[in-house]
Amino acid sequence: MKKIIIAIDGHAGCGKSTTAKLLAKKLNYIFIDSGAMYRAITLYLLQQNIDTEDTKEVINTLADVDISFSFDSETGNNDILLNKKSVSHEIRSMSVNQNVSAVSSIKEVRHFLVAKQKDIGAKKGIVMDGRDIGTVVFPDAELKIFMTASIEARAERRLAEIKNQDIEVNKEEVIKNLRERDHKDSTRRESPLRKAEDAIIFDTSSLTIDEQVDKAYLLALNVIDSLG
Ligand code: DC
Repeated sequence: MKKIIIAIDGHAGCGKSTTAKLLAKKLNYIFIDSGAMYRAITLYLLQQNIDTEDTKEVINTLADVDISFSFDSETGNNDILLNKKSVSHEIRSMSVNQNVSAVSSIKEVRHFLVAKQKDIGAKKGIVMDGRDIGTVVFPDAELKIFMTASIEARAERRLAEIKNQDIEVNKEEVIKNLRERDHKDSTRRESPLRKAEDAIIFDTSSLTIDEQVDKAYLLALNVIDSLG
């Protein structure tokens, strides 16, 4: 069966990564959370006490950053490695949330990661989620999904994700951060978040994760079938 590229974009907290991961597992594809890559660079900058708004310093630091994934096809888990060390938990901290938009708006950071993302997808058989996957990274992806959901639904999901990691935050803070990130992600000059013209919209406000995955899976099977 022909392998395809599935691009999933959308707002923060819509369940993109969870859907992408489970969909990849069902299809026996590789799953890549591109947001984790922007988060890993942000984490490194914070660890080195580099001001994330200092574009020049950030660009100079890229040479010291090695990002890779260790993929376990049994579980579908994909650990992100920063300079060969797993940082899958650390990249979800509130300080990374607050700095990642600034870092991801820098052109050179985007070029650095987009090149890596294109490499990873060269062999197809991949589900990648992010903000610019259907528009910039894989404009020829065979299936593009654009996810959105109400701010309330998204905040509840982020809270559940953060609570699992014993991090103290309240709902207002999460909503504020989501709104700020939506605004920054959609208005930045470099590859702003926008729906690709040929993307299918999923409003996930009242969908369970299983429903999201099933919907995406059926779409994927249809596309794969149509390619013969
Ligand atoms: O998907 P996420 O919330 O983990 O992404 C973290 C940040 O990274 C998000 O605020 C915007 C940025 N990002 C991006 O600019 N382009 C991508 N392809 C993925 C994420």
